[in-house]
Amino acid sequence: MNKQFILAFESSCDDTSIAIIDTSYQVYSNLISSQLEHGKYGGVVPEIASRLHLRNIMKLTELALQEANLELKDISAIAVSVNPGLIGSLLVGLSYAKSLAYALKLPLITVNHMLGHIAANLIEHPNLSAPYLALVVSGGHTELVHFITEEKFKIIGQTRDDAAGEAFDKSAKLLGLGYPGGPIIDRLAQSGDENFHDFPLGMNKKNNYDFSFSGLKTSVSNYVKSQTEDFIIKNKDNICASLQKAIVSILVKKTINYAKQEKIDKIIIAGGVSANKGLRAKMEIEAKKIRAEVYVPQLQYCMDNGAMIGAAAVKKFINKEFSDLKVNAFSTKGVRYL
Ligand code: KG4
Ligand code: ZN
Repeated sequence: MNKQFILAFESSCDDTSIAIIDTSYQVYSNLISSQLEHGKYGGVVPEIASRLHLRNIMKLTELALQEANLELKDISAIAVSVNPGLIGSLLVGLSYAKSLAYALKLPLITVNHMLGHIAANLIEHPNLSAPYLALVVSGGHTELVHFITEEKFKIIGQTRDDAAGEAFDKSAKLLGLGYPGGPIIDRLAQSGDENFHDFPLGMNKKNNYDFSFSGLKTSVSNYVKSQTEDFIIKNKDNICASLQKAIVSILVKKTINYAKQEKIDKIIIAGGVSANKGLRAKMEIEAKKIRAEVYVPQLQYCMDNGAMIGAAAVKKFINKEFSDLKVNAFSTKGVRYL
């Protein structure tokens, strides 16, 4: 049978990404244009993000086709993330995806960004199937989700305040380390002592699967104020290692406790924070103890990318779950099947 290619768009936050993937999850191109402009503001500025998506999207589509050695006429479907995210940013991707679908008479497949993060695991493990437990950790989300089937799932726990990625980013800002903070803290933590300082574990209660990271942020802020600048600079790797330990420990603890309680033997980590080396290593160690298998996307598919949106669209394409061109973007939070 001829290969069928899906052209996938991701523009929910500050990365414009366009990928081409086939129905066996082979990725032919996955281009990401990251908007470094936000760094100087210490966080994503929505209006700037939308404008930059608009500036990049057409050229990036051309380049994605070129890299895959394909033309628009070779494409069988258009996939696009429509929620959650910054509404202006989502609308740029959706409007362009709709116009291509209309002009080329192709089916349009809409994807929830968080399900996209989870589907990133299918690129390496195309046969991965529910039941599984997914820890979805990104800049805006922290959710523990029990998938009974791929379409039917229960949200077991979520953050009551900051997301895990946000905890990394805000702590890095307090420590004067730059944005986004997650990768910087991850790198510095490698050479630090994680027992240097005890940062608090949020919502560390039995049989409770919600998360809270705002207490950690306050504790980092108080810690920074209580020390000299020189001390913070000298010990930044130790502080990062200790901080990372606090975030990772609670994420792993709750995931493993629930998997153990419900006898779930497949654990997926998804979202930008799934790139974290400490999280990947600790989850692996603890999962082994309960004989569960851990699935984590390859690093290039952890942060926002088009390939994960394409991967989430594959089954919908096969099942002909297409969207009407009247479909709109929306910004409500969380994992949901569209
Ligand atoms: O999924 P993502 O790319 O965008 C959202 O949907 O939010 O996640 C971005 C988040 C940021 O908070 C970033 O700091 C965090 O993922 N992140 C990391 C690492 N790489 C990215 N956090 C910890 N360790 C990392 N290596
Ligand atoms: Zn994301």
